[in-house]
Amino acid sequence: MHTLPTIAPERLPDLLAASPKAELHIHIEGSLEPEMIFALARRNGVALPYDDVEALRRAYAFTDLQSFLDIYYAGASVLLHEQDFYDLALAYLARGATDNVVRAEIFFDPQTHTARGVSMETVVRGLHRACVDARARFGISAALIMSFLRHLSEEDAFATLEQAMPLLDHIIGVGLDSSELGHPPEKFARVFARCRQLGLHVVAHAGEEGPPAYIWGALDVLHAERIDHGVQAVHDAALVRRLAAERIPLTVCPLSNQKLCVFPELAQHNLPQLLAAGLVATVNSDDPAYFGGYINDNFRQTFAALPALTAQHAWQLARNSFEASFAAEAERQAWQQRLEACFEQHAQRG
Ligand code: HPA
Ligand code: ZN
Repeated sequence: MHTLPTIAPERLPDLLAASPKAELHIHIEGSLEPEMIFALARRNGVALPYDDVEALRRAYAFTDLQSFLDIYYAGASVLLHEQDFYDLALAYLARGATDNVVRAEIFFDPQTHTARGVSMETVVRGLHRACVDARARFGISAALIMSFLRHLSEEDAFATLEQAMPLLDHIIGVGLDSSELGHPPEKFARVFARCRQLGLHVVAHAGEEGPPAYIWGALDVLHAERIDHGVQAVHDAALVRRLAAERIPLTVCPLSNQKLCVFPELAQHNLPQLLAAGLVATVNSDDPAYFGGYINDNFRQTFAALPALTAQHAWQLARNSFEASFAAEAERQAWQQRLEACFEQHAQRG
């Protein structure tokens, strides 16, 4: 397709929903819905400090990243057995398929589980089996990214990598998440160097709440291939130029940013600014069970709040998600063709 077909503005919401897309920033523990927390608590005999689903949902009022993480780690305590991890991931992938996610690169936080006595093997085998089954059942391509918790030590990250060694066939890369402020990327320089030697892809959360310096650190010290969030980059013009020149993708999560008060309102989100600067920005859900929306909710609400965003941006965001993905080139080209077909269809039927 040489020129983008004209899309009537009223068709944009449908187009956003129907568009094939890759989701590159989703924490599987963040897709644990309150209903599943209660079902797993019952199944596993785990006591919860909330009476019911509604009481738990009422606790989802966050003021910053840490206020969210405290509840998110507590919710994950119901995950004990391989089947629990399977059920969690399969539910997310089934939901993703209805949002026309064709590719999901899924973060998991093993240290949240191994610290409670759940083995690495239990976690990875359950998640991996769901990825395999989801491909057969929903036609969705899925892969796992092991994320280190940055509030813990580098030594702890090394021990986690050691536990994952026999399972590396099931893991495409590593990431860095949890409490950002006070835990710069430099803290994990050696473990990320080792991961790169092992042939793993490298990404890192940076510039969600933290300063541009953390994004520089993720690039220069960790050699991150993508930056998760990265929205604080706009405060450093040289950094924006670098990200654009090197086509380093940003996995932006608008509803997450709003719920964690990174931006007071979606209408103030800087996604249009990031795209205007030529950055390879993508839209993702982060922790959909906690932030009130899956990927299509993120697209719909963000475009509704920001009239500057048009069909041209919808096109760019989907394209960016394929470019930023770690999938094989042939797969990425096939998704790009589906994107073109989807746009043609929405233009013609108007
Ligand atoms: N930031 C850091 N750590 C996280 C997040 C996030 O948005 N979600 C889950 N763990
Ligand atoms: Zn995240």
